[in-house]
Parts: sequence; C-alpha cells; structure tokens
Amino acid sequence: MTDFIHRFEPARDAGSPPLLLLHGTGGDENDLLGLGKMIAPGSALLSPRGRVLEHGMPRFFRRLAEGVFDEEDLRRRALELGEFVADARKQYGIAAPVAVGFSNGANIAAALLLLKPDVLAGAILLRAMVPLSDPPKAELAGKPVLLLSGQADPIVPASNSAKLAALLSEAGARVDHKVLPAGHQLSQADVTLARDWIGNIEALV
Ligand code: MLT
Repeated sequence: MTDFIHRFEPARDAGSPPLLLLHGTGGDENDLLGLGKMIAPGSALLSPRGRVLEHGMPRFFRRLAEGVFDEEDLRRRALELGEFVADARKQYGIAAPVAVGFSNGANIAAALLLLKPDVLAGAILLRAMVPLSDPPKAELAGKPVLLLSGQADPIVPASNSAKLAALLSEAGARVDHKVLPAGHQLSQADVTLARDWIGNIEALV
C-alpha cells in the first residue's frame, strides 16, 4: 500500500459516504477525526498524514512561500495521494470518498479534483485556494463540492476563493460556495454547513 501514515475507522452506517480527511499545515492523521465524526457520524474515515515536512510540520506538498506553491511537487504529491486512496479502497473495501480538507489539505483536495477527478466522489474544501496556475481541463461531471471560505481570511483573498469556485464550476462540478464571517480558522458554522451538505448528498454518491 502506498506509504502514508494514516488512521482508518470503519463505517457505522453503510449508507454514509467514506470521508478522506486532509489536515492543515502542522496537523496529522488524528486532527480531523473529530470533525469527520461531527459531520458524518456513520461514515468510514480515512485520514492520512501529509508526507512533506516544513520545519517539522507535516504538509501535503511543498510551498515556496505562504500561498506560493511548488506546483511540480503539488502535482506529484496529488497523484501519490490518489494512489494511496485507490490502495486504501481495496484494502478497506470502501467506495470513492468525499474529501474533507482544511487549508493545506483543502488545497491538495482541490488539486486532486482537477488532476484525477475519479479519485473523489466529492469534496468539502475548507479555506481552499486555487492550487494550480495552469490546471488541465478536468471533467467533474456534476461532482458535488462545498467550498467554505472566511471573509476575513488573511491567507486566502476573496478573489482567490471566487476564482477556485469558478474554475471548479467551469469543469462541471456542482459547487456550493459560501463565504462565512470567519478568518482562516474553522468556526461552528463550518461544522453545521458541512454536516447539512453531506446529509443532502448522501443519497447521491
Ligand atoms: C498552503 O500552503 O496550502 C496554504 O498556504 C494554506 C496553509 O497551509 O497555510
């Protein structure tokens, strides 16, 4: 199996979509398990740890500065993550997951949607930004995406998250973009909106 340190928790309700939990910079495979349980209590949870270290802090890909990505590394790491998901699906017998990514994890989830659309059944992108300056033409064929941005996010300007929403919509995703009265950190509204959204798509995936 592609070598990612990870946690897996089996489903408690076979009708709930599995979640691929992708943490932010400095997080690990334990970080988003609580969030996953809050938004989809019955879902299987697959939670890898990012394999890049920035001053000892795990991430999913390298960056040159805050908000400036090493895109070659990002492309390679997104494909690696896609292989990990394919292997984990076989090993644990789960369907294509819905990604739940925060910050750096949301950015690699967005890259995965654009580079390997079949890996994910959908995505919840929390504080994501445009991951690639020149993405390939993706076919997202109605894939559901919830993008939750913070109005006062010092890392992701409003124009950037709007551009990501447009990029994913143009590729055919069903994008629900909401801008919350929040910064880069998550708020209770993120949890509530994510839980309601996933409850509505469960019937579709
Ligand atoms: C990133 O590097 O992916 C973004 O700047 C978000 C972050 O991790 O701070």
